[in-house]
Amino acid sequence: MKIPLALVRAATPFVMWGASLRRRVLPPQLAMLELATAIWPALALRATIKVGVADRLAKHPATPGELARDLGLHEQSVRRVLRLLSGYDIVREGRGGRFELTRIGRYAARDTRESVADFVRYAGEAWQLGPMERLDETLRTGVPAFEIVHGSTFFEYASSHPEVGELFDSAMTSVAPLYGAAVANAYDFSQTSPVADVGGGSGLVLRAILRAYPNATGVLFDLPGAISHAPHVLGEEYARVRVEAGDFFDRVPPGARTYVLSHVLHNWDDERAIKILSNVRKELPADGRVLIVETVLGDKPNRWSAGNLTDAQMLLLVRGRERSRVEFETLFARAGLHAVRVIPTSAAESIIEAVASNPAGVAGGDDLV
Ligand SMILES: C[S@@+](CC[C@H](N)C(=O)[O-])C[C@H]1O[C@@H](n2cnc3c(N)ncnc32)[C@H](O)[C@@H]1O
Repeated sequence: MKIPLALVRAATPFVMWGASLRRRVLPPQLAMLELATAIWPALALRATIKVGVADRLAKHPATPGELARDLGLHEQSVRRVLRLLSGYDIVREGRGGRFELTRIGRYAARDTRESVADFVRYAGEAWQLGPMERLDETLRTGVPAFEIVHGSTFFEYASSHPEVGELFDSAMTSVAPLYGAAVANAYDFSQTSPVADVGGGSGLVLRAILRAYPNATGVLFDLPGAISHAPHVLGEEYARVRVEAGDFFDRVPPGARTYVLSHVLHNWDDERAIKILSNVRKELPADGRVLIVETVLGDKPNRWSAGNLTDAQMLLLVRGRERSRVEFETLFARAGLHAVRVIPTSAAESIIEAVASNPAGVAGGDDLV
């Protein structure tokens, strides 16, 4: 049974309240240990993907003995890891000790449509875990632990380590369907074409918009490595897209009416974010729109929020952060834009719609940062 994402989203506060209640009734040390060991099952899951167990189970249920034989693994170790994962609804052990993937576990197999296997692999890579281990140094200095460990910014590192860049791009591509369709459903793109997806990766958000609006056209703009899979990812929609490589600190593509920045600004500090927005503003026509797709931090404390989780990831990796509506408005004001409204979607992300503060002055843009 597929439960609509909007319903899940509406139910999330109650589920999180239930999880919080559970922690409050557990012995406090146990609640603490659950959090401290959360990385163990995550890494166990990642290991099953790396050695091919998830892919193999997606084809047929199998015993650890069969998996060991077919994949050249150690049977006892496989059994122990699968038993751990059965407690997290990733696999289910059936008769005769045969394991199968659950409805959640299916998405660990690479061949499953909209698989998130690449994100699971990305989340546990040594180049991320090393910085995580030194997050205390970020707490002391404010410098992203990634830069402390690797001596370069995350995006510099990704472009000089092609395997890292590839995995990052495919991890982002694997999660984009979770919000791409939600964005296309939440906003009326019927009068806003062409739509430029700036920092659009391989184009999944743009693809969702173009699929929902068959008369719209698009421009996909990103670094050369990130757009290399665009023809394949965009599929039938590729015919309606101009794909352009470039650096959004230098320029953004001209000629669009709507500029989408999905999960882009949160990677950058305020000065860099304002530079990107200013470049967008220079190209924005008088009736143009800028749509920021990101989680918007709320002002209610003591709540679980997806934004707080990704904010911690930004703290670790880059100099960016998640922002509140007021913080977005401050950025917009300095880039010659202002927010019109914040539109919730059925995913964790909202759409912040902005327009030029002074549409008549768009062409010059000399006053901009
Ligand atoms: C977190 S990903 C978001 C991808 C996509 N918009 C999405 O929502 O799934 C950030 C994107 O910014 C791109 N990016 C980073 N630096 C860039 C630059 N200087 N110029 C253009 N794109 C850049 C990355 O390649 C990456 O695709």
